[in-house]
Amino acid sequence: MNSDIKGPSHGRVVIIGAGLAGLTVALNLASHCRVTVLAKRGLDEGATAWAQGGIVGVLGQDDSVESHVKDTLDAGAGLVDEHTARFIAQASSSAIEWLVAQGVPFSEDPQGPLGLHLTREGGHAVRRIAHAADATGKAIHDALMDKARNHPHIDLRERWMALDLITTRHLKRSGPARCHGVYALDMDHRRVETLEAQAVVLATGGAGKVYRYTTNPDTATGDGVAMAWRAGCRIANMEFIQFHPTCLYHPQDRSFLISEALRGEGARLCLPGIDGDEARFMPRHDPRAELAPRDVVARAIDFEMKKHGLDHVWLDARHLGRDFLESHFPTIYARCRSLGMDMATQPIPVVPAAHYTCGGVVTDLQGRTDLPGLYAVGETAHTGLHGANRLASNSLLECVVLGQACASRIASEPATPHASLPPWDESQVEDADEQVVIAHNWDELRLLMWNYVGIVRTTRRLERALHRVQLLKSEIDEYYANFRVTRDLLELRNLVDCAELIVRSALLREESRGLHYSRDFPHTLPVSFPTVMAKSMVRRSPA
Ligand code: FAD
Ligand code: SIN
Repeated sequence: MNSDIKGPSHGRVVIIGAGLAGLTVALNLASHCRVTVLAKRGLDEGATAWAQGGIVGVLGQDDSVESHVKDTLDAGAGLVDEHTARFIAQASSSAIEWLVAQGVPFSEDPQGPLGLHLTREGGHAVRRIAHAADATGKAIHDALMDKARNHPHIDLRERWMALDLITTRHLKRSGPARCHGVYALDMDHRRVETLEAQAVVLATGGAGKVYRYTTNPDTATGDGVAMAWRAGCRIANMEFIQFHPTCLYHPQDRSFLISEALRGEGARLCLPGIDGDEARFMPRHDPRAELAPRDVVARAIDFEMKKHGLDHVWLDARHLGRDFLESHFPTIYARCRSLGMDMATQPIPVVPAAHYTCGGVVTDLQGRTDLPGLYAVGETAHTGLHGANRLASNSLLECVVLGQACASRIASEPATPHASLPPWDESQVEDADEQVVIAHNWDELRLLMWNYVGIVRTTRRLERALHRVQLLKSEIDEYYANFRVTRDLLELRNLVDCAELIVRSALLREESRGLHYSRDFPHTLPVSFPTVMAKSMVRRSPA
């Protein structure tokens, strides 16, 4: 981090989330102030540790910032903010160098740039993905977590769940709106604590758990988006939920990702029960075949499954050979073997599943949200990088580049005066008697989102979904008002807020673009804007 930044040497910054976004902010900020990092489950639980394919590095001699910007713009289907894409692409080589300096063991190639092996994924014109075999996220997370654990100014708290932001409104006094801290449930002591903070950073990841089938970990319940929304921040582009084309389809596992890097190395998508060249269907959908952007591939699979009445399609990697598969994709190969499938001798069954939340809390390129004192970074944020469809491996890059920029910004902010914050009030609530209500509503919400707000949408289904979501929301709000909070209840409350944002955003978009495909509006409009949701209004806006 830039050593001439003069930041607040006192005061605490609370970072909600211990994934790549949260840890990047923490490690870049800890020499300037005390940092508390909250993780609602174990410190290793989150999407980062599950990332497989890799992280974009514009490093190769055949590559350039402009080429990466072009691929990001193409994938994002007219909604990428070009300035954001260029800012992030330009910072990619220093982001990779920073990760290497933190000790991340990327796969090596003595002939490669920086001595790294680069792989390829859909939508990328060239090989530009730095990776650690097929477990890149774990390699990154382990290295950064090790640094954070050993840093004297970083206080890591697992099983602490942020439940709401404390804003000027809670202080019952006039003055400009600001975030002053956060209420957080300390799960081991079953207590809600009040954490005052100079700045609060939302780094809570995505909202994939809003869908029945997802590649996401249990942490992905959209908490940051929901908290920011309740605090009055703008939320953008929530209709663009990315469905990853290839999630393993197996009775014992419906959430294990089969990395796009496999298709990058030549694996093909085929129809079961059909022999010969006819089985491979992607060339019939797009000239880029298996390496078309994800929205195109996921929709093609959905189309073929519906047309042929299939439960799944095949991903065929047999021709890559056992040695290659075992050395380049050890995690995936081993997982399939453990389920009785040998990728070297048989194709594996795959289906699309909810994977990435392209929209989120609106921020600038320093992570600032609409509320002074509140920042958002990583999958929870909307910077304009992903537009209507994220380009593969851009997410980890965004976490690092924006995490560093956000830390610099916070460090340069003047200290704010101490505020005396009201404690959490539990005087009106009791322990919940019927946990089954929460479990039932979780299931109902996720199933209805899967069935009504999936890869192909219609206005009628979206309207039905909105009606059901609003019923669930009022039931959950009532529950929340009367019973002591638990993680399940808090997560459900956040999921239902996110579901409503997704459905309302989808209803506003009367066209098909990127990840949002509507049968009622199959065409793409000539001009388009992000869908910006704000408490005081709901609109499509050029903002
Ligand atoms: P996460 O890593 O998800 O971390 C969120 C953190 O927030 C966790 O610590 C969680 O406990 C905490 N948290 C959440 N809510 C609360 C709360 N209320 N209170 C306290 N703590 C909270 N992207 C790529 O670029 N390349 C890839 O190869 C790639 N592969 C992927 C593979 C899989 C299977 C998945 C699911 C995603 C993949 N992605 C990939 C996407 C990428 O991994 C994520 O977008 C990225 O890791 C998000 O990082 P994050 O720090 O924003 O969130
Ligand atoms: C994958 O490995 O296919 C996931 C890459 C990503 O989501 O960016």
